[in-house]
Amino acid sequence: MEMPELSGTTRHALQEAVLSPRFYTTDFAAIDRLNIDALRDEFEWIRDEFAHDYNKGHFVRNEEFNANFDDMPVRSQFIEFLERSCTAEFSGCLLYAEMTKHLKDPTLRAIFKYMSRDEGRHAGFLNKTMADLNVELDLGVLHTRKKYTYFKPKFIFYATYLSEKIGYARYITIYRQLQKQPNGIIHPIFKWFEEWCQDEYRHGEFFSLLMRSQPELLSRANRRWIRFFLLAVYATMYINDARRNDFYAALGLNWREYDQDVIRLTNHISTQVYPVTLPVDNPQFFHNLDACVEYDRKIRALEKRKDPIAIAQSARLRAAIGTRLLSTYRLQPAVTNEATRWKGLDGFPNYPGPGRERATAA
Ligand SMILES: [Fe+2]
Ligand SMILES: [Fe+2]
Repeated sequence: MEMPELSGTTRHALQEAVLSPRFYTTDFAAIDRLNIDALRDEFEWIRDEFAHDYNKGHFVRNEEFNANFDDMPVRSQFIEFLERSCTAEFSGCLLYAEMTKHLKDPTLRAIFKYMSRDEGRHAGFLNKTMADLNVELDLGVLHTRKKYTYFKPKFIFYATYLSEKIGYARYITIYRQLQKQPNGIIHPIFKWFEEWCQDEYRHGEFFSLLMRSQPELLSRANRRWIRFFLLAVYATMYINDARRNDFYAALGLNWREYDQDVIRLTNHISTQVYPVTLPVDNPQFFHNLDACVEYDRKIRALEKRKDPIAIAQSARLRAAIGTRLLSTYRLQPAVTNEATRWKGLDGFPNYPGPGRERATAA
């Protein structure tokens, strides 16, 4: 369909590619029926954390953003990075706003409202940075025209929890790397990542709490769904980032080492709530993901050809990716125990336990 009134970037963001950020919708009435009373005090504590609004003054651009970026390295890849990030942030903003609209529990409503505030701020900050580079991504158009993917509530929880935590891991890993080698700071926006990713970490803390408040989400057959979502999130990022190796190289990062660091960190963090995670230390694990990257590279090389042989080869390679992912899924999972469980982030508040109001009043 021709949409001539839309900028090329908006149109691109609307395209439904398999590996692109999506917009989600769910069964809000079912979520509204959840009872969180067993952990109510902890929910109220985390709500107060969000109310604190630690990053209220953080997302303000300075004069460094006014520089001319016409000749910056990997400019088009950087724009694509902004576009994907902005779409993902905006997707969170909309989903959390819908939750606020549909839920009756006052604590949950407040939390989703604060999280939507944060994601809206993140999307806006990226969007302005795109405008600096003369790229227009119309969030209003995205809102009304992008297709929504329906996920059952529990799948929304597994997927959103992981996307918040892997978002944290991605931003903090880039930030720390750029601190070590400032030559890689190809744009000032990377200097904002440290505080930024703490918002994502906090959002993930909420979803961790939400899953803990519904213990059946973490037991029996659902353990298989947990492993499925871990693998889907890791493999999607790995294949996506392999395609963008020159962007990461411009930041001074080796995409493969970067992705493996991010996956290890996310996997460790997720032991805070998941009774099983993926065996990232089993050599077969990254060996399989590397094989998927190689198949994907061959598929893309075949894309220019339209002959039946190329189509058949490409189908065979896609099947090979599926087989690799299945055998990765079947590797013996890592079972969480007290010794391996993630204990929290340094300098980041953990729930102090009930009785905090008395403690504050004293
Ligand atoms: Fe965000
Ligand atoms: Fe977030």
